[in-house]
Amino acid sequence: MKRRLLITSGLPYANGPIHLGHMVEAVQTDVFARAMRMRGHEALYMCADDTHGTPIELRAHELGVRPEDLIAEAAASHKADFAGFGIDFANYYTTHSEENRELSNAFFSRMKAGGYIHERTVKQLYSEELERFLPDRFVKGTCPKCGATEQYGDVCESCKARYDAVDLVDARCVLDGNVPVVRESAHLFVSLSDFSEFLREYCLSESIGESIRGFVLSWIDEGLQDWNISRDKPYFGFEIPGYKDKYFYVWMDAPIGYMASTCDWCKRNGRTLESYWKDAGTEIWHFIGKDIIYFHCLFWPAMLKAAGYNLPHRIHTHGFLTVNGKKMSKSRGTFILAADYLKHLPADYLRFYIASKLSTGVEDIDLNIEDFYFKTRSGLIDNLANLHNRSFSFAESKLGGELGELGSEGGSRS
Ligand code: 2FM
Ligand code: ZN
Repeated sequence: MKRRLLITSGLPYANGPIHLGHMVEAVQTDVFARAMRMRGHEALYMCADDTHGTPIELRAHELGVRPEDLIAEAAASHKADFAGFGIDFANYYTTHSEENRELSNAFFSRMKAGGYIHERTVKQLYSEELERFLPDRFVKGTCPKCGATEQYGDVCESCKARYDAVDLVDARCVLDGNVPVVRESAHLFVSLSDFSEFLREYCLSESIGESIRGFVLSWIDEGLQDWNISRDKPYFGFEIPGYKDKYFYVWMDAPIGYMASTCDWCKRNGRTLESYWKDAGTEIWHFIGKDIIYFHCLFWPAMLKAAGYNLPHRIHTHGFLTVNGKKMSKSRGTFILAADYLKHLPADYLRFYIASKLSTGVEDIDLNIEDFYFKTRSGLIDNLANLHNRSFSFAESKLGGELGELGSEGGSRS
């Protein structure tokens, strides 16, 4: 039976270049999509740049350029890097698009109509000098629990305690060192706990792989917290309809970007968004890294359920890329950009190496340089040359040097 699959990988953030960590995910997704197409199924790989949020807004402000220019530059370089690695997207779009704005508004109004959104006033740190509320990562101070200094506004790296930024002792703004004040602001929250039973059931289905099911269930058991989906201006994103100067938090519109990319593709290919995101015959497959499980296995299914769309058929999670057993690091020279890799070696060597290490688990994937060398030489080049050599002599001796069409099992790439 011919299956219809819509496959995605995590949308790269437009604030930085593509590195080999991104490429592990893209290659994994691309290998899966190509394999499905070779089996004769319809398999569309949709992706996009994730373009909103404070880091982009601040960097554009610092550079004195428009955020739109910054994300256009990122999009061009991301597309070139993925093309260099042979990643065969059906579409590579952007979350800063009209399709995404309309879909985000529609999600919001359906969640509101369902009674899942409520407004609450929260206390936040505000910089009078910069005239803005400060996100947690833009304040540092002393941990209210253990007294460690130089800690961010959300979590203490020393004792791992989580707290509100307003509880930091001697808080300072990391941008200009000034002391922030506490101000109140109204925010919009999604009551995620309304979805607890639905999410528990979803989590026990095949959609959530066994390697992560335990984590997700434990989060549900601990009790799901309300999720703040609004941010105050200045913010680069979509203004929330009916709420002046309030914007959707980047993680609200980012996964909707999977649909916006589909929508853009559908317009050009005479298809409808509904045939992929509402038709029960389509399987939605998400490939993600283990750092974004919460967003994809809890927030996103709840949003889809509230808005009446298909749930992900499968959320495939992978571990992080390490280089020689360690986290990629700029100081060790192991933080490798995709474009730098391509200056030295063919993409297929790394595609082959990554493909050889794929699994359904979330353990880290190590790029061991020595192993990479041997695997490429013996596993890829020697085997390929051997296959080539044998096939040619076989074709000569048995087929009179003539090749025919491949049968249906061989399939074609497209
Ligand atoms: O973690 C990240 O890099 C995010 N930009 C991934 C977004 S995935 C999807 F939800 F948009
Ligand atoms: Zn602490």
